[in-house]
Amino acid sequence: MQLEALPRTIALVRAGQSFADTLTEAAAHAVASFVSQAYVPDGVPIAVMLDQTRLPEAEEYLCTADWREVIVAIEQLVVRGAPAIGIAGAAAVALRASEFCYANEDDHRTDAHDFDRVHVVDEASFDPQLCRIGLEFAAKMIADARPTAVNLAVETDRALAVAIGALDGGAGPLQVRDLLIAHVQQLICQDEQRCRAIGAHGAALLDAGSSILTHCNAGSLATAFYGTALGVIYAAAEQGKVERVYADETRPVGQGSRLTVWELARAGVPVTLICDDMAATVMAQGKVDAVVVGADRIAANGDVANKIGTLGVAVLAAHYGIPFYVAAPVSTIDAATPCEADIPIEHRSPDEVLPVPIEGVDVLNPAFDVTPAALITAIITESGVYAPSDIMGAVVR
Ligand code: MRU
Repeated sequence: MQLEALPRTIALVRAGQSFADTLTEAAAHAVASFVSQAYVPDGVPIAVMLDQTRLPEAEEYLCTADWREVIVAIEQLVVRGAPAIGIAGAAAVALRASEFCYANEDDHRTDAHDFDRVHVVDEASFDPQLCRIGLEFAAKMIADARPTAVNLAVETDRALAVAIGALDGGAGPLQVRDLLIAHVQQLICQDEQRCRAIGAHGAALLDAGSSILTHCNAGSLATAFYGTALGVIYAAAEQGKVERVYADETRPVGQGSRLTVWELARAGVPVTLICDDMAATVMAQGKVDAVVVGADRIAANGDVANKIGTLGVAVLAAHYGIPFYVAAPVSTIDAATPCEADIPIEHRSPDEVLPVPIEGVDVLNPAFDVTPAALITAIITESGVYAPSDIMGAVVR
């Protein structure tokens, strides 16, 4: 296992501060070149995202101090996976808050090449009410960027609550910004800890010599680091239990064929890529001992929304008597969503399915489907393993 070969998915750093020990060399280089070209004043937060649309060909990083660019990055799958977009949402709130630190809001990402004209706002002209309205407006836009993964709305709202709490307590703009940066950096650490705990709980469910099928990418790339479903696989691999992973390619965007196989191979886990329509065959041939997938939203009754195609895999696993596990942090459980019917499903552009349109042909492109609780053997969270029908126990714990 070479987990250290996996890059980190997302970071929030400050211009002018040393980040060499928190970022890979490629990411640090990208930040340095962004700061010098965009003339970002010291102290301004910068979101650093591994551009997943460029993998596996290139390890490139998108750096931005503009919360609107983070929204576009979420929409375009530069950053993707429920926990990772939750962190991106919180980071976007921090970037928005940073704009209130300057007399001219645009100065926190100036193209003026002239730091003399960048003035930190003075306390007397700072309007907390205006700041609150601006943050609420931005948070709504951020949370709406992708509707299915509940983590985006949850973490965006939590970051907003941190800011509003500070404003209510009389904090000025610099304090609000600094609190949010610390909040996001803590969230990134917590996310990795949660993934590692999920991994430990999940690995205990697998037998030695297991071959595991997974769908989409619920790995290090979908989280801050380590992953949920792939976290289970990494933990089991560390215990010498993993014979092989079968990775569905995951049409139409190829999270399996571009991302999962890439990260498993980088980490040194034996992996075989299969087309989505081959899952039945490998199961029928007795090659799969367990299925482990991630989740974008878990309803209160244990129904699970995940990448389109997950439902088909669950039906097949039930047919062949193969355990079907879902691995997700507690933050993916949505107590306010009673069941499948209440989960909003994102529909994406037809050109993901049919790049060159054909006259007279309509395209259906729902990005997610919902696996009913009855098809799920267990849900693995950082606080333990739950029967789907008992999943609310993880929330009230
Ligand atoms: O559209 P994506 O790539 O964001 O979809 C991701 C998934 O469906 C993942 O399985 C899910 O978010 C869990 S990630 C730990």
